[in-house]
Amino acid sequence: MKTIIEPFRIKMVEPLKMTSPAEREAVLQRAHFNPFLIPADDVLIDLLTDSGTSAMSAEQWAGMLRGDESYAGARSWFRFEKVIREITGMPHVLPTHQGRASERILFELVGGPGKVVPNNNHFDTTRANVEHSGAEAVDLVIDEGKQPRLRHPFKGNLDPNKLDALIREVGPERIPLVMVTVTNNSGGGQPVSLANIRAVRAVCDHYRLPLFLDACRFAENAYLIKLREPGQADRPVREIVREMFDLADGATISAKKDGLVNIGGVLLFRDDALAQRANNLLILTEGFVTYGGLAGRDLEAMAQGFEEVLDEGYLQYRVRSVEYLGEGLLRAGVQIVEPPGGHAIYINAAHFCEHLPPDQFPGQALLCALYRHAGIRAVEIGSVMFGKTDLVTGQTIHPPMQLVRLAVPRRVYTQSHIDYVIEAVGEVFANRRAIRGLRIVEAPAVLRHFSATFAEV
Ligand code: F0G
Repeated sequence: MKTIIEPFRIKMVEPLKMTSPAEREAVLQRAHFNPFLIPADDVLIDLLTDSGTSAMSAEQWAGMLRGDESYAGARSWFRFEKVIREITGMPHVLPTHQGRASERILFELVGGPGKVVPNNNHFDTTRANVEHSGAEAVDLVIDEGKQPRLRHPFKGNLDPNKLDALIREVGPERIPLVMVTVTNNSGGGQPVSLANIRAVRAVCDHYRLPLFLDACRFAENAYLIKLREPGQADRPVREIVREMFDLADGATISAKKDGLVNIGGVLLFRDDALAQRANNLLILTEGFVTYGGLAGRDLEAMAQGFEEVLDEGYLQYRVRSVEYLGEGLLRAGVQIVEPPGGHAIYINAAHFCEHLPPDQFPGQALLCALYRHAGIRAVEIGSVMFGKTDLVTGQTIHPPMQLVRLAVPRRVYTQSHIDYVIEAVGEVFANRRAIRGLRIVEAPAVLRHFSATFAEV
């Protein structure tokens, strides 16, 4: 059979609210043209994020009831630790409430002024946590990863030559660790190959530097390795996942993605001393080491989710459904980051809104147009999220790409929802000259995309 179906049936439903164009216009005005400020009830199809938005399975809900809520040494903790150790091979497993809590602990330990942290592309919270510690975050993705339409199987790869040059320039003593984000969310959800992780590992070994994964989407990355990397087609995904982690000294994970849960995170270490110091910080701000800011039931749901995400039938459906969205948009003439990655389609907003200069935030303007037309919510990954003000000239420095991400929540929407999205984006594209640019009215100094307010120009 050619048709790949959703590998689940629906047991519980949540109604969607339909809104009129006039209602959406009023909502958009009240939200100051920032979809983060729109109440979720007013959204029809929510593609803001794939994070924490998964539908849990019956087994995960059953685990929620079995959760052991003991303060220390809960049964749910031991199950969670065992599952994570089996999958990753990492001896030290720390539970946290989400990915950025893991990042905060890690960079409080190893960051600080004068330090430099390389990554393929830092995700926004990772960058913010590196910078909050006083360190500098440097993105070293391969050049192919910055060209939206160029087809390359592993556009998330970190360039080992750029890494080597950076280490020689600043000195290895200023680099506490090298990070690789799998899949590379800020660079278009693109996977990183095993060959690349090995090459980065070799550079790290040469300078005796630790390698950490930002492993939020480790299963999708491994499945894309299976599909795209020569020699990997016949290996079980679980084995590919293990090799990815075997190459690393530690990892931060937001379980809100491939953990298939609504809240939760993990911090992993091989090094005993570093793990001990991290445990001390964990107790200070997250919770005791056997629950880390989570309930026992959350640990049960995570343990089950990390097992389910490695089901290859699930991963085939997952990767194919994202690819299907990408194919539909390409047919409508919309330029996207190609080839599609694991969790989202990234529209090239600079092309979509080519009549708008970067100063008028073409990505944010496109978000507003999608919401107005069809009640779809997406997120900008461009000048709003990553634009910076040059402290000397006062000018805005724009990132290399203006993207709008349509992130697909796991196991939530059906193919007809996705068909609706394809049709809606196609209609907005046909009428794209009508999209108006935006200016910022108010914005905080860091992570401004969450709360900035805008007006139309
Ligand atoms: N690293 C990556 C690559 C991420 O995509 C995210 C979150 C985090 C770290 C932080 O994890 O949210 O649990 O604290 N990404 C979400 C997104 C928010 O929409 O892509 P968190």
